[in-house]
Amino acid sequence: MRQQFVAGNWKMHGSLAANAALLGEVLAGTTATRCDVAVCVPYPYLAQCQHLLQTSTVALGAQDCSVHASGAHTGEVAVGMLREFGCGYVIVGHSERRADHHESDALVAAKAQRVLEADMTPIVCVGETLAQREAGETATVVVRQLRAVTELLRQQSRRIVVAYEPVWAIGTGRTASPEQAQEVHAVLRAHLAQVGADIGAAVRILYGGSVKPDNAQVLFAQPDIDGGLIGGASLKASDFLAIVAAAK
Ligand code: 13P
Repeated sequence: MRQQFVAGNWKMHGSLAANAALLGEVLAGTTATRCDVAVCVPYPYLAQCQHLLQTSTVALGAQDCSVHASGAHTGEVAVGMLREFGCGYVIVGHSERRADHHESDALVAAKAQRVLEADMTPIVCVGETLAQREAGETATVVVRQLRAVTELLRQQSRRIVVAYEPVWAIGTGRTASPEQAQEVHAVLRAHLAQVGADIGAAVRILYGGSVKPDNAQVLFAQPDIDGGLIGGASLKASDFLAIVAAAK
């Protein structure tokens, strides 16, 4: 049985004051949650959030990492550094990074491997653009993105979390319908099951893209949807808590 998981992706939002207020409310509302909860925060706030979360069950995550372990890579952040600040999760391959920083499937896979080597869990994002969906390429695109990771990691693939985030649903208010999302999640799970039956059964696949309090429950009720990766709604405590409460 897969434990459901709700992770907030704060993206490039926050301030010392806003983070303290937001996490104060989130912590007060997550003392008895049934699902796993995490927040993935901007690098400069890791120390602050590590401190604020230290006695809570809410896990800390980062939004990206370097593919390099260390060295002359100005501006990059190594997985070892993220580990030192208490991160349990690292998002890799978010569509905003694939688009804005030309991250390839191979690079995303190599980052996922780095995250595992540092004993953290990669949240591997996959998703099609609107043009790809309209061309009937959704399954091909998401399986290609995931295959790059599973081919590199093989049996280690059981230790990842996958997030299906259709690009056209991110920040647009246009959520995939539960049926559309479930269809893609089933395709992703079938791919994972080809890598190993136990891997298909064990890996959590989150849905992301305009998840809100009013659509979370029906999305999370789908058989292959194991929770959500939440952008905008994770910045408002009441919305994030309502989404957490919608998880099984
Ligand atoms: P929104 O929830 O704002 O659509 O963002 C989804 C996302 O990209 C999470 O990683």
